[in-house]
Amino acid sequence: MNKRKILVTSALPYANGSIHLGHLVEYIQTDIWVRFQKMCGHTTYYVCADDTHGTPIMLRAEKEGITPETLIARVHDEHLEDFTGFHIQFDNYYSTHSPETRHFSEDIYSKLKAAGLIAVRGIEQLYDPVKNMFLPDRFVKGECPKCGAKDQYGDSCEACGAAYAPTELKNPYSSVSGAKPVKKSSEHYFFSLSDTRCADFLRRWTREDEHLQPEAANKMREWLGETGENKLSDWDISRDAPYFGFEIPGAPGKYFYVWLDAPIGYMGSFKNLCVREHIDFDTFWQPQSDAELYHFIGKDILYFHALFWPAMLKNAGYRTPTKIFAHGFLTVNGEKMSKSRGTFITAESYLKQGLNPEWLRYYYAAKLNSTLEDIDLNLEDFVARVNSDLVGKFINIASRCAGFISKRFDGRLADGEQYRQLQTVVNERFAGWRPDQIEKAFEEREFAAAVRHIMKLTDEANETIQELAPWEVAKDSDRSEELQKICSLGIQLFYLLSRYLKPILPKTVQQIERFLNCEPLTWPELKEEQPVSDLLLPAGHAINVYHHLMTRIDAKQIEALTVANTQSLTPAGQTSSPARHAEKQQHAVTPIADAISIDDFSKIDLRVAKIINAEHVQGAEKLLKLTLDIGSEQRTVFAGIKLAYDPEQLKGRHTVMVANLAPRQMKFGLSEGMVLAAGGGNPGELFILSPDTGAQPGMRVK
Ligand code: 2FM
Ligand code: ZN
Repeated sequence: MNKRKILVTSALPYANGSIHLGHLVEYIQTDIWVRFQKMCGHTTYYVCADDTHGTPIMLRAEKEGITPETLIARVHDEHLEDFTGFHIQFDNYYSTHSPETRHFSEDIYSKLKAAGLIAVRGIEQLYDPVKNMFLPDRFVKGECPKCGAKDQYGDSCEACGAAYAPTELKNPYSSVSGAKPVKKSSEHYFFSLSDTRCADFLRRWTREDEHLQPEAANKMREWLGETGENKLSDWDISRDAPYFGFEIPGAPGKYFYVWLDAPIGYMGSFKNLCVREHIDFDTFWQPQSDAELYHFIGKDILYFHALFWPAMLKNAGYRTPTKIFAHGFLTVNGEKMSKSRGTFITAESYLKQGLNPEWLRYYYAAKLNSTLEDIDLNLEDFVARVNSDLVGKFINIASRCAGFISKRFDGRLADGEQYRQLQTVVNERFAGWRPDQIEKAFEEREFAAAVRHIMKLTDEANETIQELAPWEVAKDSDRSEELQKICSLGIQLFYLLSRYLKPILPKTVQQIERFLNCEPLTWPELKEEQPVSDLLLPAGHAINVYHHLMTRIDAKQIEALTVANTQSLTPAGQTSSPARHAEKQQHAVTPIADAISIDDFSKIDLRVAKIINAEHVQGAEKLLKLTLDIGSEQRTVFAGIKLAYDPEQLKGRHTVMVANLAPRQMKFGLSEGMVLAAGGGNPGELFILSPDTGAQPGMRVK
């Protein structure tokens, strides 16, 4: 086989959030592909890093009262722990906040500048006069200029879907300080993507050599337009201080935008690996490199990887990617992952519940192909499929045959004439077990097809064992040789299947290698004229005692997983977090929310209310139905306080309610406001507020 040099990356996760099952689609997909290439003997490196820069990370650190460096160091460890838990085997997992990434960012920037592809222009943006910072679109909120919906982000409206500039929002406010933003101009640095050198190159690059999947190439053509058309705008690559990132050389107070240095982080991580392991960096990155470079990404970040990134590399004198492999999004039970349904599942919680990471690797593999289609994790199907395919079919082969070999034949597989007969059977009956088709499927990222094929072979193996019924043969002491031959055949078939499944199930196959007492399995090279029997363990090979290799999934484990990931609404309307540190946070003080103005506060009409009736609601686990007197009128409110209060205790008490909250239609009736209660996060840990003696129903609370 022609040995290739391959560098592979997965998208760099942001350093301010936990890894969840959606992220894992990509890392598992990449890891399977990389493991397959390594098994084939190609020199393959898989690098990744945390994407550490930008405003959200800077503000999150500030909120936690720590430096961004402390935050990203902590998250780096957490991410790496999660990835390791799912057997994602990076050759290097680094950080974009590194000297290497700084070096290449400055290097690429200076080369683009020298090529006349950096322009400086003044632009006007919204500025927070309290926080003294320019506001990224996501940090400006206000009323949608199209439909008037309140509290919409600065780039698009979640109510009507309209897209707009933050300056178009009505009554805008900064979600950092609550202040009304002002317009302010400053100088920004742009990468001149509209220059014909970029557009012409990108038009060629998207058409040639299948750098992109057909669907992605079509999207690019749409973005690029036809020759002569100039649809590309220059790309704003700078941000003003305060910003957590790399300062632009020669431009004090200006920083590289996070998306400029993020893909450069691929180079930074690889360079770091090269120095450590004495690999020649230039072999992989020089313009004429014969090494291959692949980026696995989600389809949402295609724009950055298929436009900006190749144009930057090309014009800075580096090689461009061989291919960009985009994948679709993950849905769970056919819907977007949801915190309230408990399907926004973190990697950490999956592992903590004691679920086997290889179950998920297998299920994803069984669903993945080379297109941009979304994939669905149906939790019921997940349990059924893993139990049936992996435990019921694959592992079953070993557990049916290994005991006889150990107990009756001292661990020895068939030898001599028996082995020759076994070879004949394999070549005649299992001629279709050649690796070619599975190899092609792995190479082309058609993992679902690979799994289908492997499972077809697994069925064939089970049918054969069923037909030859070693458990019957074992009853007759005169048929000892036959028993050894049947069980050896089973073990040999199991050995072949284990090779094919190794990229997907690396840990189980490692255990299998110990059990079968064999060398680490590599991808088989079988020439046209060679028979399948050439792939078998040698005659008379001794195996070790079989220990159970994989347990079944209990549906209860999945139930517990979704419960652990369910976020409930506390009375204050905040979601309680299921994610990392949940236990620690339960008794800790929730950080104070972003500042709001007095005008914002005065919008809330708080009133003293007398509870004139309180009763249980049939069918509701957490709600009590309260009838409240607020002086001028009576209100019905459904409050989530059932676990903390007996209705009888509440009758006659005074409390405080939000009187101008828009009525909400609930399953059990209309709720006309909200009662205030303090909560520690646990369901029963709730304390409704009481005014001091003398307060009368209807009095305003200010
Ligand atoms: O979308 C994201 O999560 C980004 N952090 C991905 C960056 S990929 C690469 F360009 F670094
Ligand atoms: Zn709208």
